Amino acid sequence: MEEDDDVDDGTVNDCTLQTEGAWNADGKGPSIWDDYTHNYPDQVKDGSNADDSVESYRLFDSDLKILKDLGVDHYRFSIAWPRIFPNGSVHLRNQKGIDYYNDVIDKLLANGIEPVVTMFHWELPVEIQKFGGFTNSLIIEQFLDYAEELFKLFGDRVKTWLTINEPKELCKALYGSGVSPPSINAPGVGDYLCLTNILKSHGATYRMYREKFYEKQRGRIGLPSNINFLYSKANNTDEVARAMDFEFGVVGHPVLSKSGDFPPHVLKEIEQKSLAEGRKRSRLPSLGKYWSSVIKGSSDFLALNYYTAWQIEPLTGQVDEDSMMIDERDTNFATSMFENCPRAESVWLHFVPQGLEDLLKYIRDTYDNVEVKILENGWSDTGGNDDYMRIEYHRNHLQAVVNAINDGCNVTSYAPWSLMDSFEFTSGYTQKFGFYAVNMTSPNKERTPKKSAEFYKKVIKSKSVPYKF
Ligand code: BGC
Repeated sequence: MEEDDDVDDGTVNDCTLQTEGAWNADGKGPSIWDDYTHNYPDQVKDGSNADDSVESYRLFDSDLKILKDLGVDHYRFSIAWPRIFPNGSVHLRNQKGIDYYNDVIDKLLANGIEPVVTMFHWELPVEIQKFGGFTNSLIIEQFLDYAEELFKLFGDRVKTWLTINEPKELCKALYGSGVSPPSINAPGVGDYLCLTNILKSHGATYRMYREKFYEKQRGRIGLPSNINFLYSKANNTDEVARAMDFEFGVVGHPVLSKSGDFPPHVLKEIEQKSLAEGRKRSRLPSLGKYWSSVIKGSSDFLALNYYTAWQIEPLTGQVDEDSMMIDERDTNFATSMFENCPRAESVWLHFVPQGLEDLLKYIRDTYDNVEVKILENGWSDTGGNDDYMRIEYHRNHLQAVVNAINDGCNVTSYAPWSLMDSFEFTSGYTQKFGFYAVNMTSPNKERTPKKSAEFYKKVIKSKSVPYKF
């Protein structure tokens, strides 16, 4: 049960929207989530918002204390775009926001913790959504400007950057199904525009870093992708290969393959469908020669978020608009959950550790054994400090990682989601993922370790996965 000694142990508290609070403090501008939760509280399960959340903006020293207590060697967090550029454009900067992130980075480093920084974890400045957000190709230069400022401001100390969290999930939720703000329901069009613009923004950022900053800063860049492993109900390996191309290939293939474009059959199938619909062109066109050359190889490792696995079968009935895969009209697959595996508080999250092992082997075999950094992996419940199911989840998923490493997979780090309970988007505070509970009614929002924190501490200290806890 030994874990590979070279694997870095970290933790995540990534999305500042979920943890920072201080939504309008010290000159921060509004994000689309601020507007949404204020205007449509009924769309959040408990009617809550992230105005204060767990107050990491004010209480970062408390976060630092528990990070040290856990003994992690890296910590993933994100920068809120509108906290430092209130309306998104870099010509207006908010020095207090910049000071805050400088302080966080300096304190982490002073305590021997490497900052792993996500540039964008969904806090889109309202002003940028006004012109279409990620569906407008103008976002490419806006993002590039933003990223360049981040490299200038923090790149002397930040050596691991993640550009845009979970492109596929983000695009589907914002511009496909529209379950998240700005609630654009344009499946098979809006989500594909968004995906294309994200890939271009990411690729251009990578090239810009290499040209202007790499020589001095020597950092590495990744594109965090959530991947559910898909099992065929009929045990058909061709189905799995085809479905995984829709599940991950639409992001992974452009970045990691030699073509620099979407998987060929995905391009072909969507083009055929689009023409059959009477359109003049595909809803998901090829990225083209120029962009493929920019995007190809634009990642120094695969940044993986893994939570669960799904089953697939050919679609025969109605399209499920809420499917976690991209549009079922295009994939022609129906997805279902492993109902016989324990379910977390989140409806989409079942306990399938084997899925992580199989996914890592799939990545090894499909993408030339690229280096994988696991940057999210977690279990939700309704709260309580005796969180034995969370321990079982991490114990089994860590064992899956060990098994995969022993089978030649190139995994170099593991960071569970998440450090502490926080705002879970439209589920409000009803789903808890943390190793630490937060006293939401006390002025100092004390963080208290759950049993899982003790467990993870032991994992980090012993560099092995305890058989029993
Ligand atoms: C997101 C997190 C979120 C977690 C659990 C991940 O895909 O990156 O922000 O809290 O899922 O829903």
